[in-house]
Amino acid sequence: MSTLARVSGYALALIGMFTGYSYFGIPQVVPEPPPKQTHIDASMTIDEFTALGASIYERTCALCHSGLGDRAPKLDRIGSLWRERVNDPRYRGKATTLEAYLRESMVDPSVYVVQGFGKPGAADTESPMPDVSKGAIGLSAAEIDAVIAYLQSMAGEKVSVSPRAAKPGVAGKHAEAAGGAGSAPDAVAALTRYQCNVCHRLPGIAGAEGTPALGPDLRTMAKTANTRAPGLDASSFIRQSILAPDAVIAQGFTPGVMPGDFGQRMRAAELEMIVDYLAKEH
Ligand code: HEC
Ligand code: HEC
Repeated sequence: MSTLARVSGYALALIGMFTGYSYFGIPQVVPEPPPKQTHIDASMTIDEFTALGASIYERTCALCHSGLGDRAPKLDRIGSLWRERVNDPRYRGKATTLEAYLRESMVDPSVYVVQGFGKPGAADTESPMPDVSKGAIGLSAAEIDAVIAYLQSMAGEKVSVSPRAAKPGVAGKHAEAAGGAGSAPDAVAALTRYQCNVCHRLPGIAGAEGTPALGPDLRTMAKTANTRAPGLDASSFIRQSILAPDAVIAQGFTPGVMPGDFGQRMRAAELEMIVDYLAKEH
């Protein structure tokens, strides 16, 4: 609930966004406050999850991606177009799947700017699209996944994301404590905010001795993550380990110890900072 409640103050935030992006000629319409959504958790069916993604899309993305006018490209052909995007010499991102391309487009829009849609004067190098995990829109990682599920199903592609296990009580409290202050400024701050250091030894955190009995040492993840699950690269493995800790259990450790609700509590930007940080050699 609280994760989604972050979207409250939404109308106000949108006004801010409109001010920032007024050169799009977005009409100054203040939409209805978002409906009080149900908590995203693993008991949700894929259909419910996708429907939630649709409602988030309608409230936020469709402001620009409505297909009316030329504020933003239509996303109806993204299921095949993304391949052209990532093969374009102007592409500076890392995506190799539709899911990754969509997530990247949402949290790091400037790694690829669709021709003709860049910020005025920036020759299509800077996207006017805001990072939707931050500021005005502030979607959580789970909400971003819901939007991905919706866009994949609209494109007639396989839905590759799913609602995650969450412990609602805990999630609520943490979302308020952690989420109120916005995104952590960097990976180390995010790791500390979510208390990963309680169970893990981590690179770059002074005194993060962890309790090695609880969780694996993550200082060498860059070397080991590639080999942990067939078919997953280091970043994908680390992301999966955080969002769905029980998917692969590190040898010698116990399932069910690592909380399963980080995907709900974290902002997408925090998740990606942590993933990038742990995937790097230290
Ligand atoms: C303020 C307007 C605005 C909002 C709000 C917005 N976008 Fe965008 N988006 C754009 C513009 C402009 C582009 C084209 C420039 C670029 O490539 O970054 C774009 C590009 C994209 C692309 C890449 C399209 C392609 O053809 O490669 C995707 C995917 C995308 N947006 C998804 C979303 C989703 C999902 C949301 C809601 C969570 C959203 N956008 C919200 C303006 C917006
Ligand atoms: C309560 C203890 C606990 C907390 C808090 C915790 N973890 Fe874990 N974590 C574990 C345990 C136990 C494992 C090993 C079992 C498994 O693989 O799921 C693990 C596994 C992992 C792995 C996979 C390691 C490998 O070699 O396979 C990663 C990556 C990870 N955690 C990251 C994090 C991050 C990032 C945070 C904070 C957002 C965090 N953990 C918070 C206990 C914890």
